[in-house]
Amino acid sequence: MKLWLFGIYGIVGTTAIAGNKAIEKGISEKTGLVSELPDFEGLANFSPLSFDEIGGHDIRNIESNLYEELFKHWEENQHFDYRILKQLKEDLEKIKAKKGTALNCGEGVLEELKPIESLENENLSLEEIVDKLEKDLLEFKDEETVAINVASTEPTIEYDENIHGNIENFEKAIKENKKEKFTASMLYAYVCLKNKIPYANFTPSIGSNIQALKQLAEENNVPHAGNDGKTGETLVKTTLAPMFAYRNLKVLGWMGYNILGDLDGKVLAHKENKESKIVSKDKVIGKILGYYPYTITEINFFPSLKDNKTAFDFIHYEGFLGTKMKFYFTWDAIDAIVAAPLVIDIARFLNFAKKKGQKGVIKELAFFFKSPMETDIYNTHTQYQMLVEWFNKLKNEG
Ligand SMILES: NC(=O)c1ccc[n+]([C@@H]2O[C@H](COP(=O)([O-])OP(=O)(O)OC[C@H]3O[C@@H](n4cnc5c(N)ncnc54)[C@H](O)[C@@H]3O)[C@@H](O)[C@H]2O)c1
Repeated sequence: MKLWLFGIYGIVGTTAIAGNKAIEKGISEKTGLVSELPDFEGLANFSPLSFDEIGGHDIRNIESNLYEELFKHWEENQHFDYRILKQLKEDLEKIKAKKGTALNCGEGVLEELKPIESLENENLSLEEIVDKLEKDLLEFKDEETVAINVASTEPTIEYDENIHGNIENFEKAIKENKKEKFTASMLYAYVCLKNKIPYANFTPSIGSNIQALKQLAEENNVPHAGNDGKTGETLVKTTLAPMFAYRNLKVLGWMGYNILGDLDGKVLAHKENKESKIVSKDKVIGKILGYYPYTITEINFFPSLKDNKTAFDFIHYEGFLGTKMKFYFTWDAIDAIVAAPLVIDIARFLNFAKKKGQKGVIKELAFFFKSPMETDIYNTHTQYQMLVEWFNKLKNEG
């Protein structure tokens, strides 16, 4: 099984690959991997834990290699034991990114990441960009290749039914070079689904979440999933909110204040790049409770924290006899460490889905996402049950 990452030189991408190699070499435990739980026994018969080959696109430092890029993140964050990193040097040096596209990625990406190398791609026509991305993927892919978007969060663009509503118009707009209607994540998702490569979107960017690409996935019998990995504060929120619901406690207000540093934090400090992330984090409470209490969801850049993400949540709720009470929690985690194993899990489950003939949006993977597609189930407990049942049903099918 092969893995392709869009945004491969980021901290999530590099950490996922390092973790995968470390487990393969027997120098790290499998802690954090959902796909290794006893509930998913037998998954390895369809999707092995380690990847045969890894590749990806990025928009900066193209002449570099995965070890150098991981080492820069490590120097900043020291997010795992250096002895592990040292033992992976030779394997990781062999992995090199291909030049992707930064089309309509917003000021956050342009200013903070300065993707000078990929900008020459931006002078190409849409058709030429697609051809180039496609060529990279076709050179790499085999029958068991899965692609995941772990690139920086892009701004949203307005949904245009005439272009995004069906695949014929979408492809026509590519030919007509209507660049303002496309973002990098949409083009990446398009080349994957067109070439029958299962695709997942770990970010809140648009990715495959438009009608045209959903249609393409159905027509080409290819599974896809997204959006935005559920790894931290939202994971706690969607696990805790059901408690208030089960006990018939009325949530009056929920405030979540997130601070983080690092590249992701820098990019998200730009309003247009931050917007989709806020929407993704904010709406989950109402979806679980069935009503929409007052919410505040904030994300702010806090440079010295680096990849350490801290979230402060305050919940005001009402109990018996109308008495008002309060609940507070603090989530303090290393962002890449909680995200990286999910990248491996999602790749394995998507490959399993393809092997079992599943196509279109795999809503049973909702457990992994803040804004799951094609489902209104946001409750983590229900999502987990859904995943286990789906896996066991398919596992036992011919
Ligand atoms: N816990 C988590 O860390 C978590 C949870 C959910 C979602 N996410 C999302 O995952 C993504 C990656 O997070 P990160 O912390 O690794 O960020 P990062 O800034 O370290 O890495 C992003 C990488 O994407 C590259 N990139 C940017 N635009 C690109 C494009 N158009 N094409 C190809 N590459 C591009 C950058 O050069 C960089 O190497 C972000 O969108 C983040 O919001 C992270």
